[in-house]
Amino acid sequence: MLRNKILVFDNPEHVATSVAKIIVEKINNKKGIFNLAISGGNTPKILFDILAKQYSDTVRWDKLNLFWVDERCVEPSDKESNYGMVYNTLLTNIPIPPENIFRMQGERQPETESVHYQKILNKTLPKHNNLPFFDLVLLGMGEDGHTASIFPYNILLLYSEQTVAVATHPNSGQKRITLTGNTIKNSRQIFFLITGESKEETLKQIITEAKEAEKYPAYHILSTTKAEVFTDKGAFKSFYL
Ligand code: 6PG
Repeated sequence: MLRNKILVFDNPEHVATSVAKIIVEKINNKKGIFNLAISGGNTPKILFDILAKQYSDTVRWDKLNLFWVDERCVEPSDKESNYGMVYNTLLTNIPIPPENIFRMQGERQPETESVHYQKILNKTLPKHNNLPFFDLVLLGMGEDGHTASIFPYNILLLYSEQTVAVATHPNSGQKRITLTGNTIKNSRQIFFLITGESKEETLKQIITEAKEAEKYPAYHILSTTKAEVFTDKGAFKSFYL
C-alpha cells in the first residue's frame, strides 16, 4: 500500500497552489542553481499559471534551470507542444534568463534531438550514480498509467541505458522525446501531479498495489522511489483505504 505517498487536495487549483509554494521555496532557499524538469499536461498548466501570476517578482528565477521531462515532436508553436504551453503560461511572464531554459527541440529529427538533449543534460547537470541529477522532476500520469512519454507497451524505457530516448504515442503514433526511467528515478525528488475523475481507477490500482499496477510505468516509479503524489478528491477517494 502506497498510502503514505499521497497528498490529497480539494481540487486541481489547490494541488497547483501547494506545489507552486513548495517549488518557490526550494528555488529561493537552495544555495546555487535549482535544476527542475517539468512535464506537460493540464494540472502542470494550472501550476505554471499560478507561478506566473503570483510569484513572477518574488522568485530568484536566475537560480532556476528549466528542463523538460518530455516533448511532442512538433514545432514549438504547435498547440501540442509542451514547451509552447510553458512559454505561453509561464516564460513570457517571468524574468528567467533565456540561457536557463533547456527546451527539447521537438521540431528536430527525433533521434538527433534525443542525442542532443542527452549531451545537454550531461553538460549542464551535476551527476549522481553517474547519471544526470535533477533537484525535482514534475510528472503527470495518463489514464493508461503512462508517465513522461513512457507508455505501458514500451515500459522498458524505464530501464533504458540512455538518459533520453525517442518514444511513440501508442494511439496517435506521434513521436516524442522523453527522459527515461533511470534518469527520472535518479532525481532528488519526484512529484506526481494527478488530478481528475479520469485518473481515479488507475491511481487506486497503483496506491493499493493491485496486480494491474504492474503494467503502469507510473507505478514502477512511484513504488521504487521517494516520489510523492499530489492529487485531488476527483482522482483519489480515501474511503477505500
Ligand atoms: C505529455 C505529458 C504526459 C502527461 C500525462 C498527464 O507530454 O503528455 O508529459 O505524461 O503528464 O499525459 O496529462 P494530464 O495531467 O493532462 O492528464
